[in-house]
Amino acid sequence: MMKKIGTMLGAFLLLAPIGAAHAADAAAGKQVFHSQCAMCHSDQAGVNKIGPSLFGVVGRHTGSEPGYDYSVANKNANIVWTPAELNLYINHPQKIVPGTKMPYGGLHNATKRANLIAFLATLKKSNSVASAAPGPKAGRPSNG
Ligand code: HEC
Repeated sequence: MMKKIGTMLGAFLLLAPIGAAHAADAAAGKQVFHSQCAMCHSDQAGVNKIGPSLFGVVGRHTGSEPGYDYSVANKNANIVWTPAELNLYINHPQKIVPGTKMPYGGLHNATKRANLIAFLATLKKSNSVASAAPGPKAGRPSNG
């Protein structure tokens, strides 16, 4: 058993450098989202909690989620949430948006941030079955 695990690990280490260029792992990022962000943010479109929905956040302008009551600081931050900006923000929210009301100290693990941002990038209409079926939203949200 241990030997088998060792062999698998060896194979992984050999293969890892090949995959390094696209190492960010959205599935791992989803777990980061659920442990670090989901208590305040939904990944569902139009669902605002303590913080605004993060559906579609990649490429979104600060303070533009409809129906969410932003702080003046966040509203006027004038940032487009590119992966690079999100990386800085998630590391040190108060540094990038001074005065934000997001009560989160930052996620300082770069790998976890990269995975998380890879997951956030999947939260968009063109990437899901929603684009194939316009308006299927009636009924219950599949929120977990
Ligand atoms: C304890 C609650 C809380 C946690 C945890 C939290 N946030 Fe927030 N977040 C907020 C609030 C509240 C705001 C609105 C800030 C404002 O208006 O000043 C916000 C705003 C944001 C924004 C700006 C959105 C926009 O439309 O401009 C992003 C991006 C964001 N959060 C990402 C994250 C990510 C990613 C995580 C997990 C690593 C996270 N947040 C964890 C509460 C939280």
